[in-house]
Parts: sequence; C-alpha cells; structure tokens
Amino acid sequence: MVALAAGIAPARAARRPIPVGSAAEIGAFRGDARYRAALKRYCDVVVPMNDLKWQALRHERARFDFSGADEIVAFAEANGQALRGHTLLWGEALPPWVKEMTTRAEAERELVNHIEVVVDRYKGRIATWDVVNEVIRYDPTEGGPWRDTIWQRLLGPEHVEIAFRTAARTDPKARLVLNDFHFEEPEPGAVARRKVALDICRRLKDKGIPIHGLGMQAHLYAEKAIDVDGLQRFMRDLDGLGLDVEITELDVIDWKMPADAALRDRHAAARVSTFLDAIVAAKRPRAIVTWGLSDRYSWVGETFPRKDDAKARPLPLDADYRPKPMLAVLERYRRGTG
Ligand code: XIL
Repeated sequence: MVALAAGIAPARAARRPIPVGSAAEIGAFRGDARYRAALKRYCDVVVPMNDLKWQALRHERARFDFSGADEIVAFAEANGQALRGHTLLWGEALPPWVKEMTTRAEAERELVNHIEVVVDRYKGRIATWDVVNEVIRYDPTEGGPWRDTIWQRLLGPEHVEIAFRTAARTDPKARLVLNDFHFEEPEPGAVARRKVALDICRRLKDKGIPIHGLGMQAHLYAEKAIDVDGLQRFMRDLDGLGLDVEITELDVIDWKMPADAALRDRHAAARVSTFLDAIVAAKRPRAIVTWGLSDRYSWVGETFPRKDDAKARPLPLDADYRPKPMLAVLERYRRGTG
C-alpha cells in the first residue's frame, strides 16, 4: 500500500460522513425508473420537491390531497432514507383561495390548522421540517427584513412564530428549520440577509419557541463569488445560538456560463466545493440536499433561461444519469472524507 502523508490520513478518516440527498419531483418520480434508481442509489435523505406545498396539498380548500407526498414518503421509508418536509409556510405555490384571504383571524386559523394536519400526518416519519421558507426580503437593506407575502400582510412578523409554535406543539420531536436563500454572496444584500436570519432565530429562542436549524437553499450562481469569510462568520454565529445548519436546495445556476459542457461541469463542481468546504471548515451541516439529481429535470433551465439553447447543467448527474464532477464532491462528504 502506498504510504499516506503522516497526519493527513487519520484526520480525514476521523471525519463524520454527512447525509447527502435530493429533492424528488413527482412527475419524474412516477414516470422515470432511472430517476427512482438514482434517488435510491445516491440519497440518504429525500425531500418531496413540490408535494408538501400548499398548492399540492390544499388545491381544494375543504380537503387535503396527500397523494404525491405519500408516494415519495413511502419510497423513502422503504429504502431506509430520512425525510425532510418542505414547507409549511411560503408566500409562493399557494392555491388562489389562500391569496384571497382578507382577515388576520382567517389567516391564523388556516395556517394553524394546516400545520397541525400536515405535521401530525407525518409525525415520527418526517424528521425535519422547513417550517418557514423565504420569509426574508430579497434585499433587506431596502424596505425592512420581511418578505411581502399574504402571511406577512395579514399576520405581520408573528407569522413565523405561529408557524414554529404550531409545528413544535404538533410534533415535539421534529427538527424545525428556517429555510432561505442568498446567504453566500459578498453583496450587501446577502450580508443583510444573514443578519436578518440570525435576528429571527435569536428572537424565537428568546421567546422560548423551538427552532433547531437554519436551512441554506444554496442555489449558487456560477458567475458569482462565494463569501468564504462571511459564511464562516455566519456559521460561528449560528453555533453561538446553538443552531444547526443544513444545505437544503443545492444546485448551480449556469445561465451566464459559456456553452461548453465539460467546462461548465468543472466550474459547477468547483463552486460547490468552495461553498461546502467553507461551511464544513467552520461547522458540519446536518445534511446536504441537492434540488434534484439529474440535469434531465430541474427548475434552473426554466427559471434562469440561457441566451443560447444549451441545456442547463445544475445538478450532480447529467441528463443521461452519468455522474458529473459535482457528484464526486458530494460523495466525498457522504463518505466522510470531505
Ligand atoms: C421549485 C421547484 O423546483 C419547481 O418544480 C416548482 O415549479 C417551483 O418551485 N426555492 C424553493 C423551492 O424553496 O421550493 C423551489 O422549488 C425553488 C426555489
């Protein structure tokens, strides 16, 4: 055997593996056996991508439709995979009747009832919930900390407290997470977002409302720098509050990159590695979840269209399920050698 440099091997071997996983989109999940095989092979954690959103569950006001979520939950359980729930409160993916609510009492009643029913159904099975998603304003330096949503309009900042309190009361063993995006860049807006996230977490803690972690979506822009120092400070601040961190929606937005596929793939892997290395050096995430597995299916191409007609390459497997360099980066952490 080749001798490894003294000191490196034991330190690396001592690292704990980090659970790695993906969101599962129901159309691909139902229609594509290769998608299901990839979920099974590469994931320790699975997240229903859209099927726990209000739009899917509450299409009709009078009844809950758990059909999509139940299928993905059953798949994960059959494969011994952990589950994350996404999400109990968001300003988007809402059925029309939610946006037509007009009073505080109505909003509170619907929110509390929704969280009770959904969290109770998966009690003891969905271990972690993104209790609230994207409640921070895109740029809090302009117009204050809160994102303008129906929940903020009708309930004010208390919407976050109501959501966490209700989730905690319904499943006291669940891990409860505040999930949001755009924390990793050096721009003033991102710096302000980190501060707002910490303020919200601190306020919940001060009031005795359970919160266990911060979820960083990490939709990384290929063309933007990662603020390594700022991220590491952020990790230490979360530590100081006794909070975990998890990476919840990792992918790379490559709309401004040249078309060359190999170049884009190398660059995406390097971005992901820079980002994860920065975080892991300061604080080990509870999980690393990508927002899909194969470039065959991703929101990135639709939401961030390229000027040419090259297909987006945001994920760890290509459109034919071949591993890309990004997968090797994730597998390093999954094995505990990262
Ligand atoms: C996206 C899904 O990937 C799409 O399939 C859907 O059409 C829209 O939502 N931030 C989030 C996720 O928190 O829920 C979003 O998911 C992507 C951005």
